[in-house]
Amino acid sequence: MKKLDMLYEGKAKRVYKTEDENLYIIEYKDDATAQNGLKKGTIEQKGIMNNKIANHLFKILEEKGIKTHHERLLNDREVLVKRVDIIPLEVLVRNYAAGSLSKRLGIEEGVKLGVTVLEFCYKNDELGDPMINEYHIKAMNLANEAEVEKIKDMAFQINDYLTDYMKKKGIQLVDFKLEFGKTPSGEVILADEISPDTCRLWDEVTHEKLDKDRFRRDMGKVEEGYQEVVRRLLGEN
Ligand code: TMP
Repeated sequence: MKKLDMLYEGKAKRVYKTEDENLYIIEYKDDATAQNGLKKGTIEQKGIMNNKIANHLFKILEEKGIKTHHERLLNDREVLVKRVDIIPLEVLVRNYAAGSLSKRLGIEEGVKLGVTVLEFCYKNDELGDPMINEYHIKAMNLANEAEVEKIKDMAFQINDYLTDYMKKKGIQLVDFKLEFGKTPSGEVILADEISPDTCRLWDEVTHEKLDKDRFRRDMGKVEEGYQEVVRRLLGEN
């Protein structure tokens, strides 16, 4: 499958049309940003590692019956996916306090939350992806009631599967971000990526961070964190 016109360039990925109008190619880049684009950098081989990790996890979710945009891996940096219109929501799932939740609510990082917390942000760079609730989603027509219910159900199921799977690999799934898309026939499916860019992944025992927080917080050994996730999830370096 050949790449045709580029449709979109994001912070970490490019999306291309293909000869098949129902399929797109995603290309993963090594570029990394944080603080809504204020902090910029490169994480060597990140594109390759995230492509591997995302595809591995999407396949596992597909096996569990979660519909995703995943079709097949094309090469190190490219994956073939189903065409969807991205619903402009960041769906955050949190098992332990960390990051913006810890700051906003004054809960120490690593504290187990009484229930799994789901948050929505409106995907809009100019506005800095503000947090919104289900009323805003409906008021702004970002998704209808049935679609919101489907997104919530899928997000909690994905959390259950991934928490379980990561635990077997010695990784604590602290929190993560999902994006969903609508197929041409209107079905809501999981899209975008699941990787150390979009998850907080801690060593289960030492709580060492193995994710993008190492870049966001200038902790060093960023590549090593991603490599460790590849090693644990896929059994390779
Ligand atoms: P937060 O604590 O900064 O709100 O992030 C929660 C989780 O969601 C964390 O694993 C990082 C991920 N995330 C993204 O991947 N992209 C985003 O734009 C945001 C806000 C969070």
